[in-house]
Amino acid sequence: MRTIVVKDYVALSKCAAVIVAGQIMYKPDSVLGLPTGSTPEGTYKNLVDFYKEGLLDFSRVVTFNLDEYYGLGPQDKLSYHWYMHHHLFAHVNIDPKNVHIPNGLAEDVEAECRAYEEKIDRAGGIDLQLLGIGRNGHIGFNEPGTGFDTLTRMVRLTADTIAANARFFASPDQVPVQAISMGIKSIMKARRIVLLASGSGKAQAVRDMVLGAVTPEMPASVLQLHPDVTVIVDREAARLLD
Ligand code: F6R
Repeated sequence: MRTIVVKDYVALSKCAAVIVAGQIMYKPDSVLGLPTGSTPEGTYKNLVDFYKEGLLDFSRVVTFNLDEYYGLGPQDKLSYHWYMHHHLFAHVNIDPKNVHIPNGLAEDVEAECRAYEEKIDRAGGIDLQLLGIGRNGHIGFNEPGTGFDTLTRMVRLTADTIAANARFFASPDQVPVQAISMGIKSIMKARRIVLLASGSGKAQAVRDMVLGAVTPEMPASVLQLHPDVTVIVDREAARLLD
């Protein structure tokens, strides 16, 4: 696990975007695994800027998002479909047929999850998986206690995650309590992983992920077992690493 500490959120966003841009430049048909949340917003903005400056071509890039709230459709402004469209896809030349996000309205959730894993495999697997981290150490919506052998499936969000995500909703009781999420095993199959964490609220989770025991109680600690992980943190999130 290599750790890059940068000054602040602005630097973190640029650093992550440069790494993703390099991936796309070296392999124009890269398969990217993408997160939502506050942390990658700046990264996506930089990628859009690189595209507008003519540095990047997304026409052959394939993407798979980590998760989607169960019960929210693509037109719902709180869905991760909408988030991705708003922050990235609407502003670059990605081919809509290369974009994959779990269907939060799927009637047969098991079939949806199975098909999602098959699509990742058929695309050749994920070249670069970008991740955020929850304050409780979750990656994707794999909450503490999740087995390391999990694939894409329906998950129940913990009270902590619902509270953390309530800022996007009118009130905490509107936050969906379930989501479809790629599993720990799905994430670990990626060839390269880049995890982003910003701010002092993530410092304990970052410390436990990098220096703590590898245990399902701290889902991100599994990344210690992956051969190619880069953790990009700003100084506040790196506060407890020394
Ligand atoms: C989002 C996701 C989550 C977030 C995590 C951090 O697709 O999978 O694991 O990465 O909850 O969220 P932020 O960046 O909002 O702190």
